[in-house]
Amino acid sequence: MSFSGGVRACLGWRFALTEIQAFLTEVVGKFEFALTEKSERIRREPCMVMAPTVEGEVKNGVQLPLRVSVAPRTENVY
Ligand code: HEM
Repeated sequence: MSFSGGVRACLGWRFALTEIQAFLTEVVGKFEFALTEKSERIRREPCMVMAPTVEGEVKNGVQLPLRVSVAPRTENVY
């Protein structure tokens, strides 16, 4: 649905998926993600796609509160 379908479907969808995969590989490898005190109140908001909001704070819009820190460097370089 994101890239539409049929004769006018997105010409760049394979490229876009490869880009996001490359980006995620970098981010997941270099950072650590931890839950916060708000994490139990995160819920899925259906609005064309699923978007995360925090219960009781929907007026603040889309948010996904996570604690992000730089991952310790390891000797394993892939
Ligand atoms: C997350 C990234 C992207 C999303 C969600 C997306 C989504 C879409 C959608 C929904 C359409 C159809 C629009 C319509 O129905 O008129 C479209 C068309 C198109 N997209 Fe993307 N797109 C993305 C990335 C890209 C990239 C990276 C490229 C090029 C490198 C690209 C090139 C095109 C082109 C050329 C069309 C027009 C196709 C046509 O009308 O025949 N898109 N895109």
